[in-house]
Amino acid sequence: MKIGKVKLKNELILAPMAGITNLPFRLLCKDAGLRCSEMININALERNNKSTEKLCLTHKDEKPVSFQLFGLREQPIKAAVEKIEDKADIIDFNFGCPAHQIVGAGSGAALLKRPEKVGKIISTLVKHSSIPITAKIRLGYEKNNVMKISKIIEDNGADAIAIHGRTFKQGFTGKSNWKAIAEVKEQANIPIIGNGDVTNGKQAEALLQHCDAVMIGRAAIGDPHLFTRIDHYLKTKEQLQMPSTKEKIDIFLEYTKLAKKYNLLNLHTLRQKAQEFTRNLRGSRIIRKELNKVTTTELLIKYMESLK
Ligand SMILES: Cc1cc2nc3c(=O)[nH]c(=O)nc-3n(C[C@H](O)[C@H](O)[C@H](O)COP(=O)(O)O)c2cc1C
Repeated sequence: MKIGKVKLKNELILAPMAGITNLPFRLLCKDAGLRCSEMININALERNNKSTEKLCLTHKDEKPVSFQLFGLREQPIKAAVEKIEDKADIIDFNFGCPAHQIVGAGSGAALLKRPEKVGKIISTLVKHSSIPITAKIRLGYEKNNVMKISKIIEDNGADAIAIHGRTFKQGFTGKSNWKAIAEVKEQANIPIIGNGDVTNGKQAEALLQHCDAVMIGRAAIGDPHLFTRIDHYLKTKEQLQMPSTKEKIDIFLEYTKLAKKYNLLNLHTLRQKAQEFTRNLRGSRIIRKELNKVTTTELLIKYMESLK
């Protein structure tokens, strides 16, 4: 599987997720063929915003990595691309985010109402970038216009399209429409990445019948080894066991070390991570209560170690 000149070791892609796919988390997703960053505001990149710099951290061990941009205007695109193209292997643009502030500002999924604008953004990215450009879309805003939008994206020079099989209006309700993804695949001459509702190897295999790669988001939250299990399943048809409590805690402790190394450790986000990494464990409600009581990162780590 290739996106432009970038070769992926398998067809599994870690979806971009704000608040989740920072560098430490991406480093733990060892068997994702491509890992996507949290979304990065092009205006903030142009202004050298400090917190945006943290979103642009990377390391050779996570390569290839895709940095996702979002915004509305074409003007800051050139400067934004210059800031990240030596760090990222691929640049993705967000046409799917349904969050109120983003859509209210006319970006994310709101752009699906403006196919011409989508074309202009893609052609500007392609013009200024020396690395592959991809787009991440939903099926449409209120109505499905995915055929039209994906054709415009391809015609303006993008190297691949990731499609979450829901409209903006659907949010996360209903089911991801894989049939609609398959229809785009039939007309497209660039790789189509299917996305929505994949949680295990069998589902990944089923979606891969209709597209070139599978992108996984929510199922990977707190479970970065999901990609290892799915990759193993696709290669051998054998299901690997779910990680034990001890393994889950060890993965969390590994996350903690990496977050410390990259200066991303604070009580609020670490508590959220601890909840994510323990969400399917027996007694997770009690664990959640205990996590809410701790007052320092040191105590939180100690408590998590005690669960092993
Ligand atoms: C917490 C969270 C944050 C997300 N942030 C982004 C984002 O920054 N950019 C983006 O394109 N999609 C974002 N998404 C959407 C996912 O990339 C993905 O399209 C969606 O979750 C459907 O895939 P899934 O069923 O595998 O989760 C986010 C989703 C979640 C749950």
